[in-house]
Parts: sequence; C-alpha cells; structure tokens
Amino acid sequence: MTETGLLHRRSAVVTGAARGIGAGIAMAFAREGAHLCLVDRAAGDALESVAKECAALGVEVTTVRADVSAESDVTAAIAHAVAEFDGLDILVNNAAILTTCPVAEMPAQMWDETLAVDLRSVFLCCRAVLPTMRAAGYGRIINIASQLALRGGPGLAHYSAAKAGVIGFTKSLARELATDGITVNCIAPGPIDTPLAGDLPAEQVERTRLSLPLRRIGVPAEVAPSAVLLASEPGGNLYTGQTLGPNSGDVMP
Ligand SMILES: NC(=O)c1ccc[n+]([C@@H]2O[C@H](COP(=O)([O-])OP(=O)(O)OC[C@H]3O[C@@H](n4cnc5c(N)ncnc54)[C@H](O)[C@@H]3O)[C@@H](O)[C@H]2O)c1
Repeated sequence: MTETGLLHRRSAVVTGAARGIGAGIAMAFAREGAHLCLVDRAAGDALESVAKECAALGVEVTTVRADVSAESDVTAAIAHAVAEFDGLDILVNNAAILTTCPVAEMPAQMWDETLAVDLRSVFLCCRAVLPTMRAAGYGRIINIASQLALRGGPGLAHYSAAKAGVIGFTKSLARELATDGITVNCIAPGPIDTPLAGDLPAEQVERTRLSLPLRRIGVPAEVAPSAVLLASEPGGNLYTGQTLGPNSGDVMP
C-alpha cells in the first residue's frame, strides 16, 4: 500500500466479501489503501482468508459474521465498523443470493428470501450507516445490482425484481442525501465468473459467452475498478443515482 492510494485513510464496509465480486472489491480497496470491515454469513474460513490477503497489503481489516437480511445483525455489524474506524466512509452492499425458478412454480418463500437478502439488506445497511455519514458530511454508498434488473431473465423474476428495486432505491436515496455530501450509486454487472449461480453446464456458459457483444464472461477484478472509481475522489465526485454497467456490452441502456 502506498500513501498515494486512491482510498488512502478511508474506511469501508464490504458485504458478501468472502468470495466472488465482494472479495475482488475488498482486495481492490485494500490495494488503494482503505481500511476494511468485511461482512459475510459464510461458514468456514473463507472470510478470514480474504481478510488476511487484504491485511497483507498493509491496511487494517476486521471481519463480522452477519446475515445482512437480519436487522439486528446489520445494526451490530455497522456499529462494529464505526467503532473500529471511528467513523465510516464507504459502504458496498454486495451480498446477494440467486436461485432460478419460473414464476408459475415459485414458492412464496423463495420470493421472500430473495427480496430479503438482495433488497431488504440494502435498505438495512444504508439506513444503519446514515447517522455516521451524515455527521461526517461525507459518504460513498455503492450498491451491487445486476444487468438482469434491466433486461430480465426467464426463471429470474424474483432476482430481477430485487435488483431493479436496488436501482430504484439507489436513485431515491441519492436524491435524499445529495446535500449531505453522500453519494449513492449502483454497479450492474453482466455475467461474471463466480460461484453465485452454482455449477452451470459448460454448454450454457458457452452459449451465454457467445451472446455477449464482447464474447467474454467477466471476472471480479474487472468489476472492482468501477467500485474504486465510485468510492474515490475526484473520480467519483460527480456520480450519484447512477448505474455503471460492466456487462460485456450485453445491455446498453
Ligand atoms: N456473478 C455474476 O454473474 C453477477 C452478475 C450481476 C450481479 N452480480 C451481483 O454481484 C454481487 C456478488 O455476487 P457474486 O457473483 O460475487 O456472488 P457469490 O455467491 O460468489 O458471493 C456472494 C457472497 O455473499 C454472501 N452472502 C449471501 N447472502 C448473504 C447474507 N444474507 N448475509 C451475508 N452475506 C451473504 C455469500 O456468503 C457470498 O460470500 C451480488 O449482489 C450479485 O447479485 C453478480
């Protein structure tokens, strides 16, 4: 880490940081000098090993095991981060789940769980950081949506609805906080190689790849720079209520 990192001396919470895009964002933030509170509900030592990799870059890293759809877990996780860093500059709402099921067969419980983890969590985490960010007159909130919010997908109505909700929520909150020095933006990635969708058949992955204008499924390291941009100064200064789309050209809104 250098003194000139884009996020030098900033502190950030990243949810869903035990793997995939969240881990990629955590590493990119650490490289830019941000101190980190990494949050995930995953069992095992995945979160700790991401934390170790980040700490090796010379930043302070703390971890919290929490379910971001549970109000009490979110309150405790954000309180921990604020106490640890004596404030909080950046929140990345990244944790989410994805299942597939046609609407006609979808159990209400699957709908409710998806909306809770993928949308309610964003509301809970944003609300929890507001007193601290408002008091400081500074904050950067980055919500990870999905291009499926914009294009939809068969079997993905619950996920797409939650992610479209994230984009609408982001725009409203951006307007609410615009004069508080707090920006709120989304990143809506296209297909990225992570364990999110489980083990998809190779032919399906290849069909998806060939349907993309850039003919490439992305990797987390290609999403993380959008988060660094939105979190940094001056690069992120003029973005609020926006949705960046690292999506291989699949959706051109
Ligand atoms: N991978 C893609 O193709 C893709 C595309 C568009 C958007 N996204 C979005 O990017 C974000 C990250 O996805 P990913 O592909 O890295 O997924 P992933 O499944 O690899 O990682 C998600 C992480 O979130 C954690 N998590 C899930 N539910 C949680 C909860 N209730 N509380 C705390 N932690 C929880 C998981 O334990 C996991 O570590 C998600 O918001 C996802 O919707 C992913």
